[in-house]
Amino acid sequence: MSLDTASPFDEIIDRRGSNSSKWDLMERAFGVPQEDGLAMWIADMDFRAPDFLQDAVKAQLEKANYGYFCGLESFNESVRWWMQERHGWALDTDHMFTTYGLGHGIAMAIQCFTEPEDHVAIFSPVYHEFAIKIGKTGRNLTELPLMQEDGRYTMDFAAYDGMMTGREKMVLFSSPHNPAGRVWTQSELSQLADFCKHHDLILVSDEIHHDLTFPGQTHLPMPVACPEITDRLIITTSASKTFNIAGTRCGCVTIPDPALRERFGRFYRGFDINPNLFGIVLMEAAYSPAGAAWVDELRAYLAGNAALFGEGIAAIPGLSFMPMESTYLSWVDFAGTGMVREEFQRRVFKDARIAATPGHTLGTGGESFLRFNLGMPRARVQEAVERLAAAFGDLQ
Ligand SMILES: Cc1ncc(COP(=O)(O)O)c(C=O)c1O
Repeated sequence: MSLDTASPFDEIIDRRGSNSSKWDLMERAFGVPQEDGLAMWIADMDFRAPDFLQDAVKAQLEKANYGYFCGLESFNESVRWWMQERHGWALDTDHMFTTYGLGHGIAMAIQCFTEPEDHVAIFSPVYHEFAIKIGKTGRNLTELPLMQEDGRYTMDFAAYDGMMTGREKMVLFSSPHNPAGRVWTQSELSQLADFCKHHDLILVSDEIHHDLTFPGQTHLPMPVACPEITDRLIITTSASKTFNIAGTRCGCVTIPDPALRERFGRFYRGFDINPNLFGIVLMEAAYSPAGAAWVDELRAYLAGNAALFGEGIAAIPGLSFMPMESTYLSWVDFAGTGMVREEFQRRVFKDARIAATPGHTLGTGGESFLRFNLGMPRARVQEAVERLAAAFGDLQ
């Protein structure tokens, strides 16, 4: 893979000193120097916002007023259009609640549908905030470890049956999967649906990464793949990862079942939640034909970054790259180096000067991994590969 394509995503933007969590906290978090460190941890992207988003914000600025606003009809219509057009999902926007991002939506779902003594299950390793939210809300965690088959994660429901304590009320599921980018198949989702029915679980299907499938991969929204479990299903979606607008804190929690929706609605209204004006403006502008065209270019670019990074990692003895089907998050295993975690992390943070997310923070099974964020110009991905090759060069 060479750097021969000129793309708008190639533009290097210096985010240091802009209050970017990813760039401005890496020194504090990992000791990675800000002068020449590479920020590859927190899941946002370093690309310039596209014109259709900038124009939407400018149009709002022209009004020179940021007071209370009404009328979510056009926003709802854009979400409905996007889900139908991009995912074949006939979403009824009357089933939808807006939240201050999906971490917020998931924490509310846990608190609304479970009691403090209940357990909430996750398939680990997985997005670390799932376990954190379970802990912060005072619930108990049941970890169901993902299995590795041909170098990819799979779920083993027969094994999970024996790991359930009987106190689980809910399962949090990442689809597509953060950190390893799996796009789950119909068969896997059907087995998950059966598992939820068998153990009487509410399924929170967190589909925040659904737009970022690589060309040739198709994400299956849970309500489309398994309509038979819509009576126990909560779907969380947002334009935040796709269009890099996570700072505007806007997400959607969709609950098709009337009884669950009524219960959530009562809980939700107790917090007096009204969406943020800019979250609505940006998400509506994103869920548009211009947004669709931009995302298709982005998906191809991210797949190119993944190919470049994957080739580079494969050439470093002891490191292995889990093939990605989606997202901009790459899950790299350092087990083959024979090093303890402190040593391979030291080499990545100190020698390569790369801030990457330590895998053990994503749960059991993540101990020998680091997660690298490839949502950056390709030249930086190339730079990361070169730094890693040098940091582990003595293993050649
Ligand atoms: C799977 C998953 N869910 C939820 C979130 C958080 O979303 P938000 O920023 O809207 O709270 C992330 C962010 O990385 C994520 O990867």
